[in-house]
Amino acid sequence: MNDQRPVDTATWQRLNQHWETLSKAHLRELFADDPQRFSRFSTEACGLFLDYSKHRITAETMELLRGLAGERELGAAVEAMFHGEPINNTEDRAVLHVALRAARDTHIKVDGEDVVPAVHGELERMGRFAERVREGQWKGHSGRAIEVVVNIGIGGSDLGPAMASAALRAYGHPRLRVHFASNLDYELLGTILADVDPETTLFVVESKTFTTQETLTNALSARRWLVDHFGGDEGAVARHFVAVSTNQREVERFGIDADHVFGFWDWVGGRYSVWSAIGLPVMIYVGREAFGEMLEGARYMDSHFRDTPWENNLPVIMGLLGVWYINFFGTATHAVLPYDYALRLLPAYLQQLDMESNGKRVMKNGAPVAWDTGPVVWGAPGNNGQHAFYQLLHQGTRIVPADILVPATGHWGRQDHEHKLLANALAQAEALMHGRTAEEATAEMEAAGAPREHARALAPHRTLPGNQPTSVLLYRRLTPRLLGAIVALYEHKVFVQSVIWGNNAFDQWGVELGKQLAQAILPELGGEPGAGHDGSTTGLIARLRRMRGEAEPPID
Ligand code: F6P
Repeated sequence: MNDQRPVDTATWQRLNQHWETLSKAHLRELFADDPQRFSRFSTEACGLFLDYSKHRITAETMELLRGLAGERELGAAVEAMFHGEPINNTEDRAVLHVALRAARDTHIKVDGEDVVPAVHGELERMGRFAERVREGQWKGHSGRAIEVVVNIGIGGSDLGPAMASAALRAYGHPRLRVHFASNLDYELLGTILADVDPETTLFVVESKTFTTQETLTNALSARRWLVDHFGGDEGAVARHFVAVSTNQREVERFGIDADHVFGFWDWVGGRYSVWSAIGLPVMIYVGREAFGEMLEGARYMDSHFRDTPWENNLPVIMGLLGVWYINFFGTATHAVLPYDYALRLLPAYLQQLDMESNGKRVMKNGAPVAWDTGPVVWGAPGNNGQHAFYQLLHQGTRIVPADILVPATGHWGRQDHEHKLLANALAQAEALMHGRTAEEATAEMEAAGAPREHARALAPHRTLPGNQPTSVLLYRRLTPRLLGAIVALYEHKVFVQSVIWGNNAFDQWGVELGKQLAQAILPELGGEPGAGHDGSTTGLIARLRRMRGEAEPPID
């Protein structure tokens, strides 16, 4: 464990000084000063072209940041992860999502045992099952083929497969639809159940622990709905429920046959688990071959991350850029803006990946951090965002680094739409970087016939400071391989940052307290005496109890 604090490295101090001068520079000047800027600050790998020239950096910045990574022993940390060392120190676990996409002839050991054969064994089981569903051989209780897969899970047992299924719609089986039920209120599950036929629906209950309240509640409701449909025949469950979990015992207690349980391992974090059996709904939807291609794309990114010098290493570059903004410019958020509607769930997916991993306030050794860690990650598909929140990016008071993801082509062959989409994506990156000066704004208005006085008065409102940093990630088309590469890129980026900051990216103790308190409040909502809360919580419990007992208030 590296106990040194990043702020105590020699390079951190040098970065501070470097920031003093660079923070005053405008990207417009940086581009004017260096005609080679685009080629200097762009690189490509695994089907992804990264243009990071629109960042507030110089060659010296990148050199210093790489120096910081060196002082933080990033290389050794990467090797420790790939070698299955227990780098998740608070849970004493290896962190091996990379083993989930390792080639069959690779050897990765945990506690002396090679885990790769078991990974491929489970992929094989998943593949056989997925094929049976896809080919209509897996029949429901009344003998009809499955047409709808409903995933019941939350967090990592929902966001990954939901994001990947949406992203790979173009590869989906034409007979199959996939739904994702995660929330605890009945709105989502109820809406799905109202829309599907129990006789052709397969539920995949996904939970690493199989103790998650939301998932078990939804699974029980779905099960009751199914059994009711079959007149109370519990025998229907075996044909309509399968599970994915590391906790075989709890799954059996729930009543799902061991043959219908797909497993994974405690060295896979929930938010890193889409590559495992947690990806089963995706595999059923797109087929084992396409799922295998997704794993392959991630594998390419793993090799790239491990073997490529940091100068051209996508996750390292993106990770270090994040550190530069968070720790030196003091930015708090990071936007993800896909100009690819198929990636509409990527921001939500990355929210969990990044914020649950690096939303930490102590180092691995328990010492408090005295520097900021993970950003608030947010975003939405590009064009929608342009007509909603981009105003703040263009004229607000904050620096918001953003990733703009752009496919050269889509899956529909619609040149007319694609050209406009691409023009918008590039225009936004350009506008965010360049902005518009007061002089330019005034001249534009005058050229359009506005009187000088009017143009001058309006100029401050039409001025855009620019200097907003963006990474543009171009790719040819969103294929399964490409998706695998994108997701692995972000996984490794998050890891790079955790190494710089010195925190454990693979635990999530912060989510426990709320779960415990919910268990305590639950009986109190039913009227049992409480353990004592703050005045607000006690007051809200009482108010809710009253409201639930009341008739619907009239609307006036
Ligand atoms: O509460 C957070 C969390 O533990 C996530 O880390 C995880 O992805 C999610 O809940 C779901 O957990 P499980 O897969 O065990 O149901």
